[in-house]
Amino acid sequence: MSERTDSVSLPRKLWNENHIKKYFFPSEPIPRLPCSDPMAQELISQEKPVVLTDTHLCDSALKWDLEYLSENMGSEKYMVYASKSSRFKYWDQAKVKLHCQDFVPPTQRVDMTFPDFVTKLRDWKPGDDRLYLQQGLNNTVGHAIVVDFLQFNWQWLNIQQKKNNWGPLTSNLLLVGMEGNTTPVHYDEQQNFFAQLVGYKRCILFSPDHYDKLYPHPVFHPHDRQSQVDFDNPDFERFSRLNEVRAVEAVVGPMDVLYIPMYWWHHIESLPELGHTISVNFWYKGGPTEKIDYPLAPRQKLAVLRNVEKMLLDALKDPAELGHLLRALVIGRYMDTEQDTGTG
Ligand code: SIN
Ligand code: FE
Repeated sequence: MSERTDSVSLPRKLWNENHIKKYFFPSEPIPRLPCSDPMAQELISQEKPVVLTDTHLCDSALKWDLEYLSENMGSEKYMVYASKSSRFKYWDQAKVKLHCQDFVPPTQRVDMTFPDFVTKLRDWKPGDDRLYLQQGLNNTVGHAIVVDFLQFNWQWLNIQQKKNNWGPLTSNLLLVGMEGNTTPVHYDEQQNFFAQLVGYKRCILFSPDHYDKLYPHPVFHPHDRQSQVDFDNPDFERFSRLNEVRAVEAVVGPMDVLYIPMYWWHHIESLPELGHTISVNFWYKGGPTEKIDYPLAPRQKLAVLRNVEKMLLDALKDPAELGHLLRALVIGRYMDTEQDTGTG
């Protein structure tokens, strides 16, 4: 990892540097700024990541420890994923049914009540499946949680939404993870304010121009939007542009809000300081594009590529035919350098 020399970017040092694993790519710190700093606003409006230190977005939820959530979440069963490894790679059930019936999911849904989840965390021993609760905050949560939720800093959020011309808030996901749990690198198609409540998370981000360096699964695949690259075991032969990967990163702790811009790749690890981590994210639809400039921005190219893949699948109906047609389009025709074809 690059040396943390920029004092502005230094997170409070309550986490242990020894827990920061070394990966194969260089990385720079994400700026940490108070939200009144004009630079912070500038970064958000340019869709660049920033850690905001004083939004007071979720002050009313800083008391959401395991005990409080057990008492107040209500008696519903919540979405919990189980994994044999520390990786919790997202997969889409709908795409398994539609296109990939042979798909073997890397994690299992094991829904349970919050108290059962907490008991499992407390009794956990090495060799047991790891658990990660990922539940949208909905109307099944108990009254105290609703009251805390209503006290979030909606005023600040609404100002951000307006200033940046975002669409509506679509959901809030509550994440409760065990230390060491990792959400492998992927991108989302929404703007995200990621609020850290309890414990520390290491967040590694990559700009959207990594669309051709992080090798996402095909769009019809259950792992759509997830990179095929395993950071612990990168295959440089198969993925030849991995040596061009450049990251930015931050460790976020209680009160911090990380802005994860739409289409920015992110990899998130729960650090061991408290044994578990609790976060809430705020997902917003992106705004309408007012004016398109050429050449297209990397995130617009990524969106175009998604559409081409979707259109081809729509025309062919069979994902097994997609590769052949795409290769026929490219091989011997668009393989040469920019100078040779003039296409780039
Ligand atoms: C995580 O915190 O583990 C994942 C959050 C996200 O990908 O938005
Ligand atoms: Fe995400």
